[in-house]
Amino acid sequence: MTSLLQVQDLVKYYASSGLFRGGDPPVRAVDGVSFEVMRGETLALVGESGCGKSSVGRTVIRLQEPTSGRVVFEDNDVFALDRKSLRRLRRRMQIIFQDPYSSLNPRMTVGAAIAEGIEIHRLAVGAEIGRRVGALLEEVGLDPGYARRYPHEFSGGQRQRIGIARALAVEPSFIVCDEPVSALDVSVQAQVLNLLADLQRDRGLAYLFIAHDLAVVRQIARRVAVMYLGRIVESGPTEPLLSNPRHPYTVALRSAVPEPDPGRKHARIVLSGDLPSPSKPPPGCPFHTRCWHPARDERCRIEVPLLRPVEETFAACHYAELTPAAEALAEA
Ligand SMILES: Nc1ncnc2c1ncn2[C@@H]1O[C@H](COP(=O)(O)OP(=O)(O)O)[C@@H](O)[C@H]1O
Ligand code: SF4
Ligand SMILES: [Mg+2]
Repeated sequence: MTSLLQVQDLVKYYASSGLFRGGDPPVRAVDGVSFEVMRGETLALVGESGCGKSSVGRTVIRLQEPTSGRVVFEDNDVFALDRKSLRRLRRRMQIIFQDPYSSLNPRMTVGAAIAEGIEIHRLAVGAEIGRRVGALLEEVGLDPGYARRYPHEFSGGQRQRIGIARALAVEPSFIVCDEPVSALDVSVQAQVLNLLADLQRDRGLAYLFIAHDLAVVRQIARRVAVMYLGRIVESGPTEPLLSNPRHPYTVALRSAVPEPDPGRKHARIVLSGDLPSPSKPPPGCPFHTRCWHPARDERCRIEVPLLRPVEETFAACHYAELTPAAEALAEA
């Protein structure tokens, strides 16, 4: 597999929206995130709401300007591109959202919405445009005749398919999927995940797949990065990360996923307290205010743990070697 996207030390801060504008510390939404995506693969980015996943997704494709860091996509230095080059590159990097309705113009037919990118990037002219729109609708499992209808005439799952067709229209090699199934019923979720997997196989697409829990990740991703307060706290191949997580935060997320094998028990670890404010992240280990690890000590409050190889994953915990499995906690 060859590398498609490299993200190095990405930082995205937002100016505080508090009353004391300028005086309040910035929101540290993304605080030094690095990862790589290979051609044709899926990397999942997982973490609870507010941990910075969407900020990573939007900044990587430069829908938002970064605070600092470097992104290389298909050998282009994304943050150094001028507007024209960026527009050309946009064709290759697309995004789909949790709620495709918000990104579809209610007064535009589905066909016109899908055709927009084809026209902007001059990928086809005349009757060829309509033919392509029909083929795209078919490819995502919809009737080509739907091109004449409006977004409100469709169900949530169908709208997500339209959002996918729209992204595919410009022939990308990479799609940021920002919680594309989080708002759908479980049965519809599976259908959309299968569609994404089929499209990946047929078109060699790579995905950055954003999710707030680990439940859908096993079905779609080869590798996983777990985020907490703007940082990656654990990353690695999906299977070892799910079966033998080394960061106590990953163990907690994992414990919330129903166990398919009823013979295997694990404790449900409910984290105490709320996610700390990303404008005032705790010193030392950012997870220490909610950590349940038995070895947690004074060091955790002072020293920032770095992401380092531990068994089969990379984990940012001083005591990752000693992290108990959720199963062990169930027996205790
Ligand atoms: N445009 C923005 N302006 C100010 N703060 C923002 C903005 N977008 C996101 N944030 C804040 O940044 C943090 C991370 O948000 P986000 O990237 O949306 O996380 P996630 O997708 O994991 O829920 C949150 O505290 C959120 O409130
Ligand atoms: S470094 Fe300490 S506080 Fe942080 S996750 Fe590990 S044990 Fe918990
Ligand atoms: Mg989000």
